[in-house]
Amino acid sequence: MRVLGIETSCDETSVAVIAEEGGQPFIEWQEIASQMDLHEAYGGVVPELATRRHLEVLPQMVNRARQAGGAFHGIAVTGGPGLASSLLIGLSYAKGLSRGMGLPWVAVNHMEGHLYSPFLTAGRWPVFPHLALVVSGGHTMLVLARERGCYDILGSTRDDAAGEAFDKSAKLMGLKYPGGPELERLARDGNPDAFDFPRSMIHSGDFHFSFSGLKTALRVRMKGMTPGPQEKSDLCASFQQAVIDVLIAKTRKALREQRLDHVTLSGGVSGNTALRTAFLQMAEEEGCACHVARPPLTGDNAAMIAAAGWDRLARGSTSDASIDIQPSWKLGAV
Ligand code: KG4
Ligand code: ZN
Repeated sequence: MRVLGIETSCDETSVAVIAEEGGQPFIEWQEIASQMDLHEAYGGVVPELATRRHLEVLPQMVNRARQAGGAFHGIAVTGGPGLASSLLIGLSYAKGLSRGMGLPWVAVNHMEGHLYSPFLTAGRWPVFPHLALVVSGGHTMLVLARERGCYDILGSTRDDAAGEAFDKSAKLMGLKYPGGPELERLARDGNPDAFDFPRSMIHSGDFHFSFSGLKTALRVRMKGMTPGPQEKSDLCASFQQAVIDVLIAKTRKALREQRLDHVTLSGGVSGNTALRTAFLQMAEEEGCACHVARPPLTGDNAAMIAAAGWDRLARGSTSDASIDIQPSWKLGAV
């Protein structure tokens, strides 16, 4: 089976083709067009600009995907969550394409896509049950993936997502957009113990997160301070360590309580090397098999949407013309 995937939920336009060899799906073709150049000047995603860019580049990308190989058996497209105007471009395009090509299509939950991304490069198809930590710009969640399409959200953020906290804190320090990767770059030369930032909710006893207090602590600490290069690196390293400590502690607790053998890490923030290293170490200590998404599959991409869609289409699950975008689509409701 060959599935065409389309992802336009935010500021990345992506198209991918997932094919299959010996029952194992793999990425046959993928393009990811970042819109970073467009939004950089505004310090954040401008929905109208994102929509226009999706419209400009999506048809050409789909054409290239169609020229890349043989026939498709179905189309998978992100139906939500995400920016309504961005989602609408991908979903409308996929619906039109499915009609024109006479193919079934399926709307995929973007977060379910993130759950599949670690398995795309692992050389094995999703193992269930498993525990998933998804950390992106819009979400931070610990998910008990019981079975295909059966997900319990054990915990999520009460305020800022981990990526959002990275981005807002980077902005506070005057770093360029998007702040997460830049903050990590500076943190490499810093001392993670230089500043004592709070590990919010680390002992809350549940699996929820809160990162806005950490951002405030950074703002308060920086008051009246003109940090030099070393101090800036120390601030970044200490901030990053505070985020990582909480993410690791909660994941470890969930693994122990749920007694799971497999754990995954995905989402844009999983591109952070310090987090990846800490996560792999924690999994080893807990005796768990660890599957971590690899760049560029950490961030938003169509391969993960095609992969989740592939699994759904293979089981005969399709969407009809009445299905619309769901900007607030909850993973627990897929
Ligand atoms: O999954 P993603 O590409 O988009 C969403 O669905 O949100 O995640 C983007 C987020 C941004 O907040 C970005 O700053 C963050 O992931 N991010 C990082 C790193 N790379 C991307 N945060 C920390 N360290 C990184 N290396
Ligand atoms: Zn995402």
